[in-house]
Amino acid sequence: MASPAMISSRAWLRHKRVIGVFNGKGGVGKTTLAALLAYLLWQAGLRVLYLDFNTQGNGSRREFNLFEAGTEVWESDGEEHSVLDDDGQALVRATINGEKLVPVEVPGHPGLFIGHGGMKISQLLKYIGAINDDEKAELINAMLRASHEDYDAIVLDSPPENPDTQRALLSAVRYAVFPAKTDAASLADGLRLLGREFDLVQERYNPHLELLGGMLFATQLKAPGVDKAGRKMGAPWLELLNKMAFLLGGEELACPVHMPYKETVAIKTRDYRRNVVALEALGVEEGWPKSEMEPIIAVSAAWTEATRFFLQRIADLQAAASVPAQGGAPAGAVTA
Ligand SMILES: Nc1ncnc2c1ncn2[C@@H]1O[C@H](COP(=O)(O)OP(=O)(O)OP(=O)(O)O)[C@@H](O)[C@H]1O
Ligand SMILES: [Mg+2]
Repeated sequence: MASPAMISSRAWLRHKRVIGVFNGKGGVGKTTLAALLAYLLWQAGLRVLYLDFNTQGNGSRREFNLFEAGTEVWESDGEEHSVLDDDGQALVRATINGEKLVPVEVPGHPGLFIGHGGMKISQLLKYIGAINDDEKAELINAMLRASHEDYDAIVLDSPPENPDTQRALLSAVRYAVFPAKTDAASLADGLRLLGREFDLVQERYNPHLELLGGMLFATQLKAPGVDKAGRKMGAPWLELLNKMAFLLGGEELACPVHMPYKETVAIKTRDYRRNVVALEALGVEEGWPKSEMEPIIAVSAAWTEATRFFLQRIADLQAAASVPAQGGAPAGAVTA
């Protein structure tokens, strides 16, 4: 049982959309999904904070454009960064001190804020590894408790291969989402371990933690190919989804979107420093050729559908609990 102190220090979580995206394995779509959840919530009119707990800072750098005409830049390893990119400094300081975070507002996107990731985050990860379990459970929660009033929704992007940080983040979110690939490592092992950690955190530290669901991330294969690969693992495509749902605890938890894998998208989101939905808008604005637009449109549609699935789950859970979310449009309006 969580202690009364643990429960009362999280009372604020009941009324807020705080979403964390997790899988112990890397490259399963965590960052893409976290960034799009933040972006679509912002597009629906909410004030949103996206927090990048990755040393690569690839969420902040790849999914949100911090450059605009006249922006000063600094260089690291031959790559240019916006002066708004603090390499994770603000997020590390606020978290370690349990203080209100001073985020960056994405240029041209009033109401969309990010706590930037980057190499400085390694200090935080080291710190989390060194403190005891109760302190881990309280660390991120304390920073969010000091910061949350400025936002309608907060999305946390977690790093791979870091169980200590996974626990610290799970202890501080209301809703958890688990993307996975069709390989056994991320689907079966990754989710099983995560499931165990989820149960432990919910029982001991964070009774407000709820599972939003899971999704299968880009695979090189089209649906029949996935079926074939799935059968090798002992289950065709739909059964894989159900197996995931089973691991997650219920069929309604598995996002039914099939995510096509398009190399163009991986390259262009990085080159243009925009998530795929914003990239599609840019392509339309600049009149990119059909051959370039087609894969972008397909992937953008799939991610939007997947994101809506999770936002609808939030609306359903909130309706079931009859807890109105504070501020902004109701979660249901986002999915309309
Ligand atoms: N549908 C898609 N087709 C092709 N590439 C995609 C698609 N969706 C996302 N990507 C790209 O796939 C790569 C891996 O995704 P992402 O970074 O979201 O995974 P991750 O789980 O956060 O990885 P890490 O654990 O390393 O942080 C990224 O380069 C992303 O831009
Ligand atoms: Mg990532």
